Amino acid sequence: MAKQEDVFKTIVAHAKEYGFVFQSSEIYDGLSAVYDYGQNGVELKNNIKRYWWEAMTMLHDNIVGIDSAIFMHPSVWKASGHVDAFNDPLIDNRDSKKRYRADVLIEDEIGKMEEKINKEVAKAAKRFGDSFDESMFRQTNPRVLDYQRKRDELHARFAKAMEDNDLVDLKQIILDYGIVCPVSGTRNWTDVRQFNLMFKTEMGSTADGAMDVYLRPETAQGIFVNYLNVQKTGRMRLPFGIAQIGKAFRNEIVARQFIFRMREFEQMEMQFFVRPGDELKYFDFWRQTRMRWHKALGLGDDKYRFHDHEKLAHYANAATDIEFKMPFGFKEVEGIHSRTNFDLAQHEKFSGKKIQYFDPELNESYVPYVIETSIGVDRMFLTVLCSAYDEQQLEGGDSRVVLRFPAALAPVKCAVLPLVKKDGLPEKAREIQHRLRFDFTCHYDEKDSIGKRYRREDAIGTPYCITVDHQTLEDGTVTMRHRDSMEQQRLSVDEVERILKEEVSLNSLLKKLL
Ligand code: GAP
Repeated sequence: MAKQEDVFKTIVAHAKEYGFVFQSSEIYDGLSAVYDYGQNGVELKNNIKRYWWEAMTMLHDNIVGIDSAIFMHPSVWKASGHVDAFNDPLIDNRDSKKRYRADVLIEDEIGKMEEKINKEVAKAAKRFGDSFDESMFRQTNPRVLDYQRKRDELHARFAKAMEDNDLVDLKQIILDYGIVCPVSGTRNWTDVRQFNLMFKTEMGSTADGAMDVYLRPETAQGIFVNYLNVQKTGRMRLPFGIAQIGKAFRNEIVARQFIFRMREFEQMEMQFFVRPGDELKYFDFWRQTRMRWHKALGLGDDKYRFHDHEKLAHYANAATDIEFKMPFGFKEVEGIHSRTNFDLAQHEKFSGKKIQYFDPELNESYVPYVIETSIGVDRMFLTVLCSAYDEQQLEGGDSRVVLRFPAALAPVKCAVLPLVKKDGLPEKAREIQHRLRFDFTCHYDEKDSIGKRYRREDAIGTPYCITVDHQTLEDGTVTMRHRDSMEQQRLSVDEVERILKEEVSLNSLLKKLL
């Protein structure tokens, strides 16, 4: 575990050192849980967004995109339930003055119990070797059974307190299980209070009668309130979807794990409107379709799993998360929810406007049902970055850090490098770079030895380096170095261009989805 934490710290440091992610306002000591994307980060992020956007809007005839405003009428958030129920239970430690999410403290305690069980299993596996039967051990070992019973008891009590919104019992659980503040080490806790996660600000001057408005905590509501506009102006027939990419804001109490939980982040959401009764069929369709989108990246099929929700929101009739194996465990990257007609019906009620679809086949009007797919751009960025990072030992005791990004997502697709800074090689290299840059993000670098330049490109994940040498001046050929294998081929520039088009284009990824 400690090792994985170290790996994660190294990845975070690498992301800063190579211009992927910076702490926001760093020269003022930073702003907690807010990050800026640097020169390489923004390219990677844009490529992830393009992959999602094109998979949604270009590969599906019946999905269109929108870009709605961040500010929305305050009634939107009343209707959606966010004003009344978008809360986290918080608790303060009086000694350290640190604030925590009560549910996270308890979940961490459950995690510790699970760790104890896993340790027992690992110890026994070592002791018994090949003859070890893990499932039998878990079912019969008295110590493991005791830990499991305690964990299940805590889990059941915690789930009930959360479901009943019982803040008194949440605090009591923290006291009963002796959970201490990680900073002060004391149990000097305040009561648990609900904390609304929406950021509020004012629109208009006070003299005009300023209105409280919120920074949107999800992009989905911008889609719901535009359902009728898009359906009518696009003459859309059910089933159809509306996709959107945009910023969302949440005043997270505990922001942890770098860009995994941020206060300002970006979402890629798609609401798919269907006939009532068809929703579970389409839920299943989107569950599979979205998993295929993730796996097409080739980050490793074993790194993904579904986490189907047992406990559903009162308006949902199915929900699952796609989880990815981060260095800090399997974590949610995307949610897929069957939201019934809850949101549209609420907006119908609060706005007083009819939000219905006339179904020509059934000859009747109804409020459509919705399947939502919702993925965080930043979390997706983190999955790609974590799985790409590799410290490789090379022959001769040398080593390199390489980001093995899927080529289509790599921030820079190729680097053109003159072998030496004389004899007309820089001019020839510039000529090649100027030809390639219309189609590919293309670096030019002539500083330092060729080896150092290769390492710099490896460290930002550039899939191909094109080296221009004296032979280039004679026959027009260059060497093309492959990032992952470090192999080099002698090729004409036409061939280089053809290979690049084939290997780094988004099309090659999108074709895997059909
Ligand atoms: N419209 C549904 C919705 O917003 P959610 O599960 O709250 O559902 C969807 O969020 C996705 O947005 C998550 O799976 C995650 O990838 C991303 N996300 C949510 N909160 C985030 C945060 N504080 N920082 C970064 N990403 C976040």
